[in-house]
Amino acid sequence: MFQSVITGVGYYVPEHVVKNEDLIQYMDTSDEWIRERTGIEERRYAHRTQETTTTMAVEASKKAIEHAGLTTVDIDFIVFATLSPDYYFPGCGVLLQRALKMKEIGALDVRNQCSGFVYALSVADQFIKSGMYKNILVVGSEKHSFGLDFSTRGRNISVIFGDGAGAAVLQASDSTERGVLSTHLHSNGDEAEILAMYNPGTHANYWKDTPFANFDEAEIGQMFMSHSMIDHAQNFPYMDGQSVFKTAVVKFPEVIMEALNHNHLQPSDINLLIPHQANLRIAQFVQKKLKLRDDQVYNNIQRYGNTTAASIPIALAEAWEQGKIKEGDLVCLAAFGSGFTWGSALIRW
Ligand code: UT7
Repeated sequence: MFQSVITGVGYYVPEHVVKNEDLIQYMDTSDEWIRERTGIEERRYAHRTQETTTTMAVEASKKAIEHAGLTTVDIDFIVFATLSPDYYFPGCGVLLQRALKMKEIGALDVRNQCSGFVYALSVADQFIKSGMYKNILVVGSEKHSFGLDFSTRGRNISVIFGDGAGAAVLQASDSTERGVLSTHLHSNGDEAEILAMYNPGTHANYWKDTPFANFDEAEIGQMFMSHSMIDHAQNFPYMDGQSVFKTAVVKFPEVIMEALNHNHLQPSDINLLIPHQANLRIAQFVQKKLKLRDDQVYNNIQRYGNTTAASIPIALAEAWEQGKIKEGDLVCLAAFGSGFTWGSALIRW
């Protein structure tokens, strides 16, 4: 069996910096509220017309492929995680394949929101371990700024999210020392509606738990999206933040411990934990619960906000660039989010 080794990482964030103060012109919020509740100081927003989820992924991918010492023709499979695709369909995987002028390789799209990158990495790891592919490009990218409610109505969500992309190249290796040790994936759809974007979708109010399930049959018609849905802000994400928070602080430590126990390791063995950047308060809670030192946890939500599927690969690439990950280090990735879905990966770098 082969081992999958991450040989290249890269990230891209748009130039445009949006500070907390900048949001005050659109909604009733404050720098103090955002910093205190989330730790976020600023985030990046993509250019409205010149940048997409895919174009940001292209930039991150180019860096990851170059860092791996490969060229685009060496990549034999793409796994692309996003909740903000360029098109409803097809997914961003094929758009990335086209933009990078890759040969006719497979491209898989993963829809697991904040856990998207961990799920994508796990899929790539299985393909490599089974011998099916040798060089897989795993990407997480989001252009949230295009789909947020910037009125006061949407403030609990819109202040959190930012745009960006991160990528990693996984390569088959016969090393017995390095590579992805294990990945652990979970889901529980009981709370699917508490962090979700309902439209465009085909649910037509079938799932009565949807907080806005209040349209009559005539209004629903056969449309993914009606004027009324837009009037009721149903084209924006919805989140019951407190419920998500309460579950996140349980599931993060649980899934990290699952990975450590599986490999007969303990929290003190971790050189760097990269939690999905959902909220600095969640990351701090997890750090405290696992008794980790500051230098064992990497956070950059202060500068980029929550970039969903992109947050882990951006942080991974940034931490590597800063010399915080060295060969032989034990790196733990962990994520929790909409679905709910959650997961972890343990990597010997
Ligand atoms: O990455 C995917 C997973 N997502 C997460 O893990 C997010 C988890 N949840 C959270 O991070 C937090 O719940 C939030 C940061 C989203 C919200 O913080 P909170 O402390 O749970 O606030 P809340 O939603 O309970 O709202 C508290 C108050 C409310 O006002 P009242 O009713 O007490 O008067 C909100 O209207 O804060 C108000 N509020 C705001 N005020 C200023 C909500 N958003 C804002 C805002 N600025 N942006």
